Amino acid sequence: MNEPKRALITGASSGIGLHLARRLAARGIEVWLAARRQELLEREVAAIIAAGGRAHALVLDISDTEATVERLTRLDAEVGGIDLVVSNAGLAGARGAIPLPECAWADVRDILQTNLVGNAATLYPFIKPMVARGHGHLVGVSSLSADCPTARTAPYGASKAGLTYFLESADIELRPRGIAVTIVHPGFTKTAATDELVGKAPMPFLVPIEKAARLIDRGIRRRARMVRFPFLLGLVGRLVASLPRFLVAHLIYKATR
Ligand SMILES: NC(=O)c1ccc[n+]([C@@H]2O[C@H](COP(=O)([O-])OP(=O)(O)OC[C@H]3O[C@@H](n4cnc5c(N)ncnc54)[C@H](OP(=O)(O)O)[C@@H]3O)[C@@H](O)[C@H]2O)c1
Repeated sequence: MNEPKRALITGASSGIGLHLARRLAARGIEVWLAARRQELLEREVAAIIAAGGRAHALVLDISDTEATVERLTRLDAEVGGIDLVVSNAGLAGARGAIPLPECAWADVRDILQTNLVGNAATLYPFIKPMVARGHGHLVGVSSLSADCPTARTAPYGASKAGLTYFLESADIELRPRGIAVTIVHPGFTKTAATDELVGKAPMPFLVPIEKAARLIDRGIRRRARMVRFPFLLGLVGRLVASLPRFLVAHLIYKATR
């Protein structure tokens, strides 16, 4: 399979998206770094170019879904086709872990709008052009929380479970037409998002950011269907989710409230 030539990475102003963009650029892929904070994007683009890579900043608010679809449709046409899309932008951290009775409606709405609808709006514009070209790769950064409902994650977990379903269904439909879909389920990874949770929530098996970016990059190179890490937390989550809920609901509540 050919190496991708041009990649879009959303949520590239910090955390997972930023570290992944650096790795893709270091592999010789021309990268578009998208997020809302222009200054951070431009600083990183300058650093990639200084290191010999090819990079561009794209200011984008994926919660404005009409503008996102319009801008990304135009981007694909302007640059001659994006062949790797990493839809990673998301609201996480403290806002994604508020006890449900304390959530404002705006918290619930914004998390679903950004993490589910915004990520669908990011991926959608590339589907038809990729199918027409007969190749391409869509990557979505969901979460281990999509595997197993816990306390305090109703909006966040729902947004990620919805995104995972979207990607799984897309993979079934698009892979036979030459387009790979990779679903990423990270566990707790050391970024600005988890820094907000220190002392507020248990974060077992916290993964260093460099390791997370390396594992995701490996999955992308293999055009894997699923990238899950850390292994043990992913396994425990799926095992617990497979047990009858009436047996484990109280234990899950005690462990995650
Ligand atoms: N860290 C973890 O433990 C963990 C675990 C599982 C899944 N994840 C997922 O991994 C992804 C990256 O998170 P992270 O941990 O790297 O957190 P982060 O450092 O806070 O990064 C989040 C990124 O998303 C961007 N973003 C947020 N809202 C946006 C919007 N409306 N439009 C465009 N960009 C937006 C932010 O950029 P701007 O603010 O500049 O727009 C930032 O670049 C998220 O989808 C998160 O849910 C993280």
